[in-house]
Amino acid sequence: MPNKIKAPVKKIEKPIKVEEKIEEPEELKKKSSAPEQPVVPLPKGRKTPELLRGFRDILPDEQIYWEILREATKSIAETYSFDRIDFPILEKEELFIRTVGKQTDIVEKEIYGFEDKGGDKVVMRPEMTASAARAYINHGMLNLPQPVKFFYEGPNFRYDRPQAGRYRQFYQIGFEAFGSSEPIIDAQIIVMTYNLLKTIGLETNIRMNSIGTQDSRQAYKTELASYYRTKKNQICEDCKRRLLKNPMRLLDCKVEGCVAVKVDAPQILDWLDEESKNHFMRILEFLDEAGVPYTLDPHLVRGLDYYNRTVFEIWTVNDEGERAQNAIGGGGRYDGLVELLGGREGTPGCGVALGMERIVLALKELKVQPPAKKVDVFFAQLGDSARRVGLKVFEDFRQSGISVREAFGKGSLKTQLELANKLGVLFTLILGQKEVLDGTIIVRDMESGAQEIVDASKIIHIMKKKLEIAKGLDTKH
Ligand code: HAM
Repeated sequence: MPNKIKAPVKKIEKPIKVEEKIEEPEELKKKSSAPEQPVVPLPKGRKTPELLRGFRDILPDEQIYWEILREATKSIAETYSFDRIDFPILEKEELFIRTVGKQTDIVEKEIYGFEDKGGDKVVMRPEMTASAARAYINHGMLNLPQPVKFFYEGPNFRYDRPQAGRYRQFYQIGFEAFGSSEPIIDAQIIVMTYNLLKTIGLETNIRMNSIGTQDSRQAYKTELASYYRTKKNQICEDCKRRLLKNPMRLLDCKVEGCVAVKVDAPQILDWLDEESKNHFMRILEFLDEAGVPYTLDPHLVRGLDYYNRTVFEIWTVNDEGERAQNAIGGGGRYDGLVELLGGREGTPGCGVALGMERIVLALKELKVQPPAKKVDVFFAQLGDSARRVGLKVFEDFRQSGISVREAFGKGSLKTQLELANKLGVLFTLILGQKEVLDGTIIVRDMESGAQEIVDASKIIHIMKKKLEIAKGLDTKH
């Protein structure tokens, strides 16, 4: 195999300066200092529509963090055999009332719902565990080998009070496992989540609790209610109402006075049935074994009604500021959920969901560096004819699998070369009007600055060779 590029290459001894060689057309020269997108003033009195409160755009410069998170999720899900599933954003209102619970904040205050044209009461999903259980039943998955394991990613909607890390549209990734009541499943989900976050650079601590079974909770609820009755004048109005309907919900109230009262509230661990206690101990042993750091949080109950036994939340360590008020993720066991939706009695389940915005925020705050994107070739062009021919050449490059970037929207060669430099490409191709006429392209080696004029019809083949040689020497690409 010859490893020299022969006939089509006309070697230029002394590297030339691009600016000297390629003349920018006059009309482009004039434009190059002007803004590229003309700003059109709006007619008087017309305002640009703004984002809804609690909604946000995810801008291009943030996407790299989302990509890192998605890639790491996909990879860990494959390792632990969780299969991707997607659910519709709109679901019947009833799905969440029956599962998340009528007296929860999510259902009581935060639902985005409306009646559709057919008269159905629908909601934009506030979470996806209920959808996962519905899908498991709808598609007869109890006939598959158990546990059935899903992972998902997508937006949810809650009409919450917006603040840092809390939005009205937010994205979650989640893992759910149906059909096993073994504590190893709870542990696996926690270990996997911990490892996922660790791989992308986040150190976390898991807050753990067990809330037992429906039955074992009854006595605890009575005890809890009598404790709170003695503190009635110190708790908020919502909590006074909760006290009558569902005293467990008092424990996840975030109002300052209620948080203070919680400190001395009875702890559910003292009321657990033997089986729940053993189940919990086994999980903690697995976590110890796997080296996952956790803290017992005896008042953790989580803001959704479908849980039994294990509940947990994931918190980043060394947090400061407003974001420190928010968990990165949460989950637990929900052994009654499938049955509640009309599925087979006693079908167990366990899962977790992570808030993607909160993870991205933490990555940015901790200044976790996203890996630089590797681009090998930059394609620069000058003038209309070069642009026309360039589109085709660029497409040939893309199809050949060489990683290439362009800036067809930019007129000035200087700007394009600056961009090429910023991307850290190995080579820049330059196509001007003269080159189009000659059927050539200039290849600039960005490391040495050396340039060659090569036959345009052989450019892909030439660049493949050049990249092979360059990459043999450069370990970065
Ligand atoms: P969750 O605790 O309501 O649980 O939400 C899980 C995570 O979603 C939170 O820890 C947080 O990171 C993120 N999150 C929730 N609300 C917001 C918001 N308004 N803005 C930004 N992020 C938010 C669930 O949703 C359960 N389905 C988790 C689960 C899965 N349990 C079992 N399997």
